Amino acid sequence: MKKVEAIVRHFKLEDVKNALNEHDIHGMTVTEVRGFGRQKGHTERYRGAEYAVEFVPKAKIEIVCKDASLQMVVDTILHTAQTGEIGDGKIFVSDLQNAIRIRTGETGEDAL
Ligand SMILES: Nc1ncnc2c1ncn2[C@@H]1O[C@H](COP(=O)(O)OP(=O)(O)OP(=O)(O)O)[C@@H](O)[C@H]1O
Ligand SMILES: [Mg+2]
Repeated sequence: MKKVEAIVRHFKLEDVKNALNEHDIHGMTVTEVRGFGRQKGHTERYRGAEYAVEFVPKAKIEIVCKDASLQMVVDTILHTAQTGEIGDGKIFVSDLQNAIRIRTGETGEDAL
């Protein structure tokens, strides 16, 4: 299994969620986060306002998926969240050791 963490613009969150749902990804976790990338200290636009601060609000989406679904998940996020402007965000991928569905005790991919 893989864990995909995508930092995206807030206004892209709904589109990304819907696109992933269409690809049979039915579980994800979303968190409000703040961060910065390469343009640290420079302004970036967020909901029409210019942020001249280091931390810019973003949405973090965490998805655990089967190894076989990884490329589709990454491609879907990339195509949906991209505007081409600075600050589009990032996708981080890591190996995930295990997942357990608490209700049934199922483990691994059966728990997704
Ligand atoms: N190396 C990193 N580690 C952890 N989080 C990061 C990293 N780089 C970016 N982020 C997160 O992603 C968000 C968006 O980053 P951003 O898209 O500005 O990256 P960038 O490298 O500056 O690319 P761009 O030039 O397209 O802006 C940041 O606000 C931060 O939350
Ligand atoms: Mg940046």
